[in-house]
Amino acid sequence: MGLLDGKKAVIFGVANKRSIAWGIATAFQREGATLAFSYAIERLRPNVEELVATLPGREHMPLIQADVTKPEEIDGVFAELDKRWGKLDILVHSIAFAPIEELKGSFTSISRSGLLSAIDISAYSLVSLTRAAVPLFEKAGGGSVLSLTFNAAERVVPSYNVMAIAKAALESETRYLAADLGAKNIRVNTISAGPLKTLAASAVKGISAARDLWEAKSPLRRNVTQDEIGNVAVFLASDWSRSITGATIFADNGMNIMGTME
Ligand SMILES: NC(=O)c1ccc[n+]([C@@H]2O[C@H](COP(=O)([O-])OP(=O)(O)OC[C@H]3O[C@@H](n4cnc5c(N)ncnc54)[C@H](O)[C@@H]3O)[C@@H](O)[C@H]2O)c1
Repeated sequence: MGLLDGKKAVIFGVANKRSIAWGIATAFQREGATLAFSYAIERLRPNVEELVATLPGREHMPLIQADVTKPEEIDGVFAELDKRWGKLDILVHSIAFAPIEELKGSFTSISRSGLLSAIDISAYSLVSLTRAAVPLFEKAGGGSVLSLTFNAAERVVPSYNVMAIAKAALESETRYLAADLGAKNIRVNTISAGPLKTLAASAVKGISAARDLWEAKSPLRRNVTQDEIGNVAVFLASDWSRSITGATIFADNGMNIMGTME
């Protein structure tokens, strides 16, 4: 028996096989969830199709394009899920974007438009996707929303700049959404992951150095893997975490407990 048997999950944010969203998708699939995918732009569709083709039951998995800055495309995803499934149990938000020039150099020089775009795509989208999912969660008797964050929200990480502010917003939204939606049995949590080599991470200057640091200094002396994040997501999506909401759960091999390191 899988931990997610009978559950319907929509996953936003698969771009390629290294995407954290793909690690979550394969873990969910292993645990018996029925999956749907939403990708940002038409150009990504062949990648997503190729990956999804490796999963059993692909023919039953909706793949729906949606740029999260376009409300009509978000509505399109949930209208399609309503038609196909008539309910939803799990929403995965694994989305981030900032203009590349905003992810290097001094924090003081960030631009207004760069900050607003990072917050819009990486943080406001958690609110807009969750809002659109609520009617379908209600039909399921509740739901679980998951997103991904990084501890640059609470600690200063060089180069993270506008994305650090977007992650602080995302973590705060997680608490506000959880308080707003708890009475509907909808839980909202975020996973604070250690660094992984993905497309989004490659935009941040110093990701390789961060991975070296994790190996040398994190309490568990290793880097996190896509599979490990997928398994934490399974727990948060499953009924085993039914008492957890509004939380930032660290999946970072303990690095968040460490102080300044030599
Ligand atoms: N890789 C890391 O080290 C790391 C660590 C902690 C948290 N995270 C977070 O994990 C999440 C997933 O990132 P990833 O590292 O897997 O990289 P990724 O590049 O594989 O995923 C980012 C996704 O965001 C999507 N996206 C960007 N703009 C969009 C838009 N306008 N509409 C819809 N989708 C859009 C991209 O298409 C892509 O699928 C992000 O929130 C990221 O900040 C990553």
